[in-house]
Amino acid sequence: MCGIVGYVGPRDAVPLLVDGLKRLEYRGYDSAGLAVMEKGRLEIRKCVGRLAALEEKLAREPLSGAMGIGHTRWATHGEPSEINSHPHTDSTGRLAVVHNGIIENFEKLRAELEKKGHRFRSETDTEVIPHLIEQELREGAADLAEAIRRALGKARGAYALGILSLDDPETMYAARLGSPLIVGVGDGEQFIASDVPAILNQTRRVIYLEDGELAILRAGGVQVMRLDGTPVEPEVREVRFQPEAAERAGFETFMRKEIHEQPRVLRALLARHVNDSDEVNLADIGWSDEDWRPVRRIVIVSCGTAYYAGLYGRLIIEALTGTPVEVELGSEFRYRDAKLAPDILVVSVSQSGETADTLASIRLARRAGCRVLSICNTQGSSLARESDGLFYTEAGPEIGVASTKAYTAQLMAFALIAIYLGRLQGELTAEQEAGLVRDLRAVPDAIHYVLSREDEIRTVAGKHCDGPSALYLGRKFNYPTALEGALKNKEISYQHAEGYAAGEMKHGPIALINEYLPVVCICTRTRDEVYEKMISNMKEVEARHGRIIAVANDGDETVARLAGDMLVVPAVRDEFSPMVNVVALQLLAYFAAQARGTDIDKPRNLAKSVTVE
Ligand code: M6R
Repeated sequence: MCGIVGYVGPRDAVPLLVDGLKRLEYRGYDSAGLAVMEKGRLEIRKCVGRLAALEEKLAREPLSGAMGIGHTRWATHGEPSEINSHPHTDSTGRLAVVHNGIIENFEKLRAELEKKGHRFRSETDTEVIPHLIEQELREGAADLAEAIRRALGKARGAYALGILSLDDPETMYAARLGSPLIVGVGDGEQFIASDVPAILNQTRRVIYLEDGELAILRAGGVQVMRLDGTPVEPEVREVRFQPEAAERAGFETFMRKEIHEQPRVLRALLARHVNDSDEVNLADIGWSDEDWRPVRRIVIVSCGTAYYAGLYGRLIIEALTGTPVEVELGSEFRYRDAKLAPDILVVSVSQSGETADTLASIRLARRAGCRVLSICNTQGSSLARESDGLFYTEAGPEIGVASTKAYTAQLMAFALIAIYLGRLQGELTAEQEAGLVRDLRAVPDAIHYVLSREDEIRTVAGKHCDGPSALYLGRKFNYPTALEGALKNKEISYQHAEGYAAGEMKHGPIALINEYLPVVCICTRTRDEVYEKMISNMKEVEARHGRIIAVANDGDETVARLAGDMLVVPAVRDEFSPMVNVVALQLLAYFAAQARGTDIDKPRNLAKSVTVE
């Protein structure tokens, strides 16, 4: 979704804004723009397309100034065009605004403003904001801060805003409601940004603005207030991850780097949550055993890849504990009349912690008296702040739009929670717990082995990436793996792919199978009772001449006889095999995308963090 960067201080804002926007490119965008305060003028440059196009424009029509705001737009209202790109201005051109979010009542506001003589240029919802502020100034607001507060009081929806005005030429304003926005605190200079990586090379001291807050930034300091004018003492926090964590570290893409980081991420989670006696320890969440005991039912809510992590969460929690679990898509859960009660634990899962539907779901759950535990990768995110407990996945910044390391970290989180709860409920003995933990410890090395066979996976991807479609089949613990593998393929290679529970194949998708259709079958084996069923499914595919690509264990001759191609993965305990098997599918999608020449880190139309509905 849209990216925002702003700067006020002694340096030239333009290179800082462009650099910050580049670091936010992963959020997805289709146009970009800047507004800079230059020698008593407010200058704007914007254009459609990538930041390179904006840089070319800036080379032709240079800009400089000590304060500015920049924006990458992911179109919602109005096509990607120069006129719809941000910043947007008021009628006088003295005030400029960048916005992430959606102003839901913009049509009504626009009609009212038009009656008062305002003329709009774009089709965007955003443009009402500068006009509303202008109108409040005309109607007697004492100063810009008051005009902004009054204007925002009329706007419904979600926003993160950066605002500049010639009427207050040394001050930048920033406000948030429902869309993420941070303030970067520097030495004699201040920043705003949608996300930490944008400014991490400038400062690691940040203020996470809360909903309904307005920040007033001058080079020398930051003042924060609520929209009703009440002053707020902001908490300045030190960001834990290092700037290099948001660099590519020699890999050609962030996604490839993030795929390779998975063994390290999972080892770190194990080191944090498992002690030398092979016991799981979730003290970081800050809950006592007594806090967990009243839980009668668990409802997991999330979106996209995190939803598939939730499907795994259900499987592993139900396998190891006595607690029934439901899994819900945030976008559905929030609109259905879910029967919630205080003995239900709602677990939300999110890399960004800013996904609008997931956030709305936990707000609803908390209103119904449920406790909320979030499995989240982003420190200081809205989800992290609004939950009763946080399982922090600590995978480091995930920049590639397609989620990889955050997903396996979410699976690991669920495995640890399931073991912990199982033990607490007496469903697992200490010995069983230790056995599970030992098997869990084998996972990072197993992933390492998959990574070491990248070249073979590249060859398989090259053979099958041309066709229009692919089918992914899995069962039980690896049904979510099939869904996630198919999603990865769709997202980055643009090859249509369907993930299916293999048992459902005969109920429809079997009609698709012919000699051209790649069918990815996840068929790893240790003691899983669904192995034989997968073999039967593979035979059915073989009988219809489908091209079987099997994810299977080394030395599995039965699968090798059926499969045209094998992605070989080490055998780990069935319950934990999804963390290993999915890595082979991430790489399969990756190399297919590479062969098809797509923009892997920034796939078309996608946004890293879906902060609007
Ligand atoms: O930040 P979140 O984990 O809440 O994001 C949820 C989905 O938008 C996200 O997983 C999306 O499906 C990714 N593009 C998957 O690769």
